[in-house]
Amino acid sequence: MYSLLRSFAAIASLVYSANGAPAADPCVAIGGQKWVAPAAVRACFQSFPLNETRRSNVIDVVNKTFSFQTSINYQIQAPPPFAQDVHVDIASELKRIRAQKYASELDFHVDLSRTVKRLQDGHTVYQDLCYDSSFLTFLPFPVVAVTENGLQTIRIAPEAFNVTSVEFADEIAQWQQISGLNFAQYSGAFVLLINGQDPWDAVNANTQITGSFQAFTTRQNKFFSSYIIGTPFTYRMGDFAQLSLPLTDSVVLTVIRPGRILPETITVPYRSRIGSATVAFTDGPSFRAGNCFATASTNGVNLNDQALVQPFVQGFQPPISSKDLRRPMNAIINEAPLTDIALPPTLSPINPVSGSGGLLFFELDDKKTGVLALASFQTAGFDQMETQLLAGLQQLKSDGMTRLIVDVTNNGGGFICIAHWLHRIIIGPNPDSVPQAGLDTKARDQEIARLIVDAIVAGADPQEQLLYNGVNWRSANGTNFTPQTNWLEPPVDLTINGHADAFSQRLGQECQPFDMTPPDTQIFAPQNIVLVNNGLCASSCALFTITLSKHYNITSVVVGGQQGTVQQYTGTVGGQSSDFSTMDTEVKSVGLKNNSLAPPDFITNSIQGITWRLGFGIDDPTQPEEWQEHFATINWPVPAAQVNNPKALWNAIASKTFKS
Ligand SMILES: *[C@@H]1O[C@H](CO)[C@@H](O)[C@H](O)[C@H]1NC(C)=O
Ligand SMILES: *[C@@H]1O[C@H](CO)[C@@H](O)[C@H](O)[C@H]1NC(C)=O
Ligand SMILES: *[C@@H]1O[C@H](CO)[C@@H](O)[C@H](O)[C@H]1NC(C)=O
Ligand SMILES: *[C@@H]1O[C@H](CO)[C@@H](O)[C@H](O)[C@H]1NC(C)=O
Ligand SMILES: *[C@@H]1O[C@H](CO)[C@@H](O)[C@H](O)[C@H]1NC(C)=O
Ligand SMILES: *[C@@H]1O[C@H](CO)[C@@H](O)[C@H](O)[C@H]1NC(C)=O
Repeated sequence: MYSLLRSFAAIASLVYSANGAPAADPCVAIGGQKWVAPAAVRACFQSFPLNETRRSNVIDVVNKTFSFQTSINYQIQAPPPFAQDVHVDIASELKRIRAQKYASELDFHVDLSRTVKRLQDGHTVYQDLCYDSSFLTFLPFPVVAVTENGLQTIRIAPEAFNVTSVEFADEIAQWQQISGLNFAQYSGAFVLLINGQDPWDAVNANTQITGSFQAFTTRQNKFFSSYIIGTPFTYRMGDFAQLSLPLTDSVVLTVIRPGRILPETITVPYRSRIGSATVAFTDGPSFRAGNCFATASTNGVNLNDQALVQPFVQGFQPPISSKDLRRPMNAIINEAPLTDIALPPTLSPINPVSGSGGLLFFELDDKKTGVLALASFQTAGFDQMETQLLAGLQQLKSDGMTRLIVDVTNNGGGFICIAHWLHRIIIGPNPDSVPQAGLDTKARDQEIARLIVDAIVAGADPQEQLLYNGVNWRSANGTNFTPQTNWLEPPVDLTINGHADAFSQRLGQECQPFDMTPPDTQIFAPQNIVLVNNGLCASSCALFTITLSKHYNITSVVVGGQQGTVQQYTGTVGGQSSDFSTMDTEVKSVGLKNNSLAPPDFITNSIQGITWRLGFGIDDPTQPEEWQEHFATINWPVPAAQVNNPKALWNAIASKTFKS
């Protein structure tokens, strides 16, 4: 992952023989295999030259879809504290990528997807499922940052072998044989060097390519493994031990095993496993045919002639109902989908007092602290989440809990109105929770969006199915718009980083009154609430944590960040997320597909996410919240006994952070 150029050079020599004649199809060697070496996958991928029709199609779609994205001019240069982190002029980068020579389509894909990642915006991503996660590449050694006696070290996770011996049961013996190592002996080992350098150099190098979060410290945290709330709890391997592209073959680690005194240097191979959604193949042409072209859900549809094909909605546990499909969402797209790797039973909290799936309530041994562990704001259907959240909080209260921990580790968002609902029911009614429990927002107001709204006003959306239909939105003063409201007129003209831009008027909240009646009184007081996560809380999770922290000064605890850094309790705020296929549905439904400003259909198996509305700030209400600070109250040092052990962590945090 760090010596990309070197690994590409190595591959070039695999694909072409010395006299320049093309070698046999390298995809044959991996066809029908479950586990293969990353170099073999890379050789297959690198055997596809860049087809200019495909390049031009991808750049056209991506470029034109960016006119619906709110943030690209802000992302040319973000203000402090993100000035060092976010500074990409995506329009000129796309020009560069349109002209640059690439040895293969993979090289083109890596450049384009990583360039988009440099926006550090988990809503705004470009993926090609031909490559991204069609094989997942793993290391058997997830790492964690552990602090004991005031000293922080990077270690192979103490639970590493417990996790990998179960998840990789079909490969572990072979893997150990290839490496000549007994993996079990390395669980908990101190990592002194990674590829001959300070391990934090590898952590920091990864921050340059991982994307998703503005803050450097949050991108550092992506390197490490963590738990994922659920029934059962699962495990995120972290960026070191799970790659979405097969670009790294092995890593050289200098470690001290538990119980040893002397360090040793070992070479650990990565192994690639075929993705669960990858269509089986036998050679290059069948791999391409099955995995590298647009599918039924890649592009949008005209809703006036056919029902919506269920679009790509990542991370949804239950099948989503058609009613819920239309609710405004704010959720990030993960680079590698979170898989179902199990958290070892010894670490998994048991016996929740209520909830289900990724929405669970626990009561701690102190008999005073209740915990809401929430994996996302889309753990179930909307109505079920409203009911479960309220019932669970009320039960904690009636069971005598006076304090509340809300654990939103790895919570990537979901329904916007569930974030508003949770804020409102915990805190009770007050001017910061009624009627607006989230953030006012604005949409981008470029010509193509204006043409869509013009068409809707003229009657192009008789069944009121489209996102741009005014019926979905309200002015900042709470006035409901109608299908006839031209809410993008007049545009609000702004100059951002020297570029002329235009946005909608300020939009107010669209969640209240809720369809369920919230209680009249507060359930937990702000001084008795603590927010806990690993920094990887985005989108609707951002809307929830930001309103709690900034309006009520609620304590936020970020677990495991680098010693001496100030952590951010959230990032990738957005306001509402969307994607190319949704924009394409709007365009097709109002008859604008032939307009030169409309993106064409993808011919590739691609996904493009966007930030579609951007929330206004709380501290500075004139500017987006996106690039304002979200400094956590506490950077929590994690001792070995609390590593990926939610219950131990909650007990320790409860006893140290609550005042009484
Ligand atoms: C490039 O891709 C297009 C679209 O799939 C296809 O029609 C064309 O034949 C391809 N060109 C080559 C040289 O493979
Ligand atoms: C992107 O689109 C704009 C306007 O539609 C156009 O001027 C520009 O050349 C396009 N850029 C690329 C790289 O295609
Ligand atoms: C991992 O497995 C070892 C050996 O079976 C066991 O002693 C240890 O408690 C397990 N650790 C976890 C975290 O499950
Ligand atoms: C509310 O805002 C809308 C549009 O921004 C405006 O037309 C309307 O007059 C305002 N209503 C009130 C009561 O201020
Ligand atoms: C917010 O809480 C912190 C401690 O958590 C305290 O130091 C600070 O003074 C509080 N700020 C306000 C405005 O109450
Ligand atoms: C686009 O233009 C083509 C040719 O001009 C026409 O046949 C087609 O019906 C148009 N499509 C739409 C959706 O307007």
